[in-house]
Amino acid sequence: MTTAQVRQPKRLADYQAPIFSITHTDLVFELDATATRVTATLTFKRQQPGRLLLEGQQLKLERVRLNDRVLTAAEFAQTAESLEIFAPGDTGVLEIVTLLNPEQNTALEGLYLAEGVYCTQCEAEGFRRITYYPDRPDVLAVFTTTIIANRNELPFLLSNGNKVRESRLPDGRTEVVWHDPYPKPSYLFALVAGDFDHLHDTYVTSTGREVLLEFFVQKGALARSHFAMAALKRAMRWDEQRFGLAYDLDRYMVVAVDFFNMGAMENKGLNVFNSKFVLADDTSATDTDYFNIESIIGHEYFHNWTGNRVTCRDWFQLSLKEGLTVFRDQEFSADMGSPTLNRIDAVKVIRTAQFAEDASPMAHPIRPEQVLEMNNFYTVTVYDKGAEVIRMLQTLLGKAGFNAGLACYLQRHDGQAVTCDDFVQAMQDATGYDLQAFRRWYSQSGTPELSVKEQFDAATGKLTLTLAQQTPATADQQEKLPLVIPVKIELLFHDGSAAQQHLLILDSSVQQFQFDNLPQAPLVVWLEDFSAPVKLSTDYDVEQLLAIASRASNGFARWDAMQQFWHKIIKDAVQQSALPVLPEALLTAFRQWLITPLADLALTAELLTLPDFDTLAAHYAPIPVDALLNILQETTQLLSKALLPELLGCYQQLTTPAYHYSEADVGLRALKNRCLHYLAFTAEGAKRVTAHYQAANNMTDILAALHAAQHANIAQAGELMADFAKRNEANVHVMDKYFNVVAANPRDSVFDALEKLTAHPVFSWKNPNRVRAVYGAFSQRNAPQFHRKDGKGYALLAEVVTKVDAINPQLAARLITPLLSWQRYDDGRQQQLIMLLRELASLPMLSDDLYEKVHKSLP
Ligand code: ARG
Ligand code: ZN
Repeated sequence: MTTAQVRQPKRLADYQAPIFSITHTDLVFELDATATRVTATLTFKRQQPGRLLLEGQQLKLERVRLNDRVLTAAEFAQTAESLEIFAPGDTGVLEIVTLLNPEQNTALEGLYLAEGVYCTQCEAEGFRRITYYPDRPDVLAVFTTTIIANRNELPFLLSNGNKVRESRLPDGRTEVVWHDPYPKPSYLFALVAGDFDHLHDTYVTSTGREVLLEFFVQKGALARSHFAMAALKRAMRWDEQRFGLAYDLDRYMVVAVDFFNMGAMENKGLNVFNSKFVLADDTSATDTDYFNIESIIGHEYFHNWTGNRVTCRDWFQLSLKEGLTVFRDQEFSADMGSPTLNRIDAVKVIRTAQFAEDASPMAHPIRPEQVLEMNNFYTVTVYDKGAEVIRMLQTLLGKAGFNAGLACYLQRHDGQAVTCDDFVQAMQDATGYDLQAFRRWYSQSGTPELSVKEQFDAATGKLTLTLAQQTPATADQQEKLPLVIPVKIELLFHDGSAAQQHLLILDSSVQQFQFDNLPQAPLVVWLEDFSAPVKLSTDYDVEQLLAIASRASNGFARWDAMQQFWHKIIKDAVQQSALPVLPEALLTAFRQWLITPLADLALTAELLTLPDFDTLAAHYAPIPVDALLNILQETTQLLSKALLPELLGCYQQLTTPAYHYSEADVGLRALKNRCLHYLAFTAEGAKRVTAHYQAANNMTDILAALHAAQHANIAQAGELMADFAKRNEANVHVMDKYFNVVAANPRDSVFDALEKLTAHPVFSWKNPNRVRAVYGAFSQRNAPQFHRKDGKGYALLAEVVTKVDAINPQLAARLITPLLSWQRYDDGRQQQLIMLLRELASLPMLSDDLYEKVHKSLP
């Protein structure tokens, strides 16, 4: 952590194969809060000429032994980040003893102790905080792990693989030995020790293996782990059925902890989860919580094949496992629930966060080319755009072709550490489809922009579509080339002729596509299912967009037409510095959906929802912050006034059954709560929101009431919030939801409220969930106060980032994201942001995490 010199990133182009491989890694942990001793015995083998250089960070080295001889200080060299053994020979056994301080480890990387639980997080480069090691994903070893601890304090001592032995030592401590037969890179290592409630079950795989499934959760939370267990079994079955992939060990463990930097981690046989994505019951979880749990349980389980059995050669290839595994979890969720809603949610992520990342100083391709701090590249681009790239492959190859390609990839590379190119090559070899040009998606960053032209010749029935693509320069890359872009379209006809679906493959800058013998001029639904992660603009008028919204055969296309509709209306309003004029046809459509909702109530709710600030903002440079916020607020009020009777009718007609997490009930609550959101602004709003809160029998409805109360600023908002906080003090995850609502308060009073929250007994600066619940929510869900003209919102976040960087750099670097994109705002906001970024850059102990982001961002 030095700030004086310029810190150098690593480059993909500099990749070199490892000089030594490690075949066996034996670890002995003697657990202690402040002095855990780790004895690592590494069996190494030379692969090519060169030095034996191991990575290490914040380690206290006690001893190095080579083949049973303790090395003298002259036989090795140590720096703050490495250990070199001078004459290792070609093969041998190295024993390294290090001392760690888990209690002081607030970065939550490596081995840490929090709330009485020892826990590891090694991806990407955390293992080097446990012992000196070739800490890179292309060194795969068979791990044996011994944990020695006091059983009374730590009844569960867990690591990867199978438990081979458990014994009582003469000194009264217990020793447990684990062995993982599958060679793995260090980032998949895990150790957990603590006292838990324990839920277990069994699962028989399609190959006849009986697997013990175990969940370890905080004491008292057993009843809240059943849903996750059931979700795990669904995921295991689904992967067998969809891809023919079965689990490969006799034991699958999931540990839930409240101190965790991310969602979850796929360590072999021993997943570690943020407890927020495991624990749920009908009184404390929202519909979204249930959804997220199923999807993340699926994600980590799916990694066992796409990530663990076949892993990444180097971290630049991260999307190899993450893009693919996100795609797999999205397919799983779509099969478990509504494909339409799943697609809408995935597209929202791309249009808000990913497009924003492309427009930011951190823009990078899904396979980045240079990285200073790897933790900064667990991004929406690598994950979610990465998943879109995989989805495009499936669109081009067809489901059967894609499945064949995946089977080829897994079979060809089982047990290896490979590249994104290897993946594409397997897809190509299995299908014979030439993917050479497609590979550019891996190396080119930025959001392609498509423009389209339609020409129809009534005499011949010939339709000519002209598509053009262009990708604007990004912070990391000036030159952009054409990409292979699958564009799904649907042709709709007024005369009742059957709609037609086509797949256009655009692979040059401009291209024409022709369709003959059409009965009449069609209405073209462009980019159905968001078949590529691009921006596409049409010159449709509002009537045409509303026609698509009412008639397209595909629910996603209907929603997307409404998004385009709002985008258009709002753009016009911004241009004219006026409020939007709501066409009668819009009100008619909204009335219709409220009076006779579609069978899919969740889709109906989405059709009635305006795009959010971030989605709209992606289309402006600079972003007209004040105008957009004002328009969004005013439009909501206009709609609630204009549609009062229908909103009320719809609201009253949807009677809430006893809580049940099912697709139908989720949709019902979504629509009812969408109505409430509008109704909150009407004369009777306060009464209705209060009644909704009081009648609610589930967390989804309760939170909808709180958000509506806050948003519409009803008089009782404070009272309801206080009541909610009092009732839920005992459940930190519900308190996080309370923090979220407080942080989303769009009025000036939010600053005092946030200050008070940090003094709340549940709040801790060391807990990432709490910090995110307060300040993540403030910066991401409170555009009016975060983007205040006077810079107060930005300054608050900068202060928090500074404070958190000293505790947990990864968390700080996540929080800072909304401050980086100063270029997207007006002059006044730009100046505020640049000033804050300069201050951050001058901090004496800036982490690599922040250093990389701040320095990329500064002018
Ligand atoms: N591999 C984990 C997952 O996608 C996430 C690890 C994130 N690591 C990090 N350093 N941010 O499930
Ligand atoms: Zn993942």
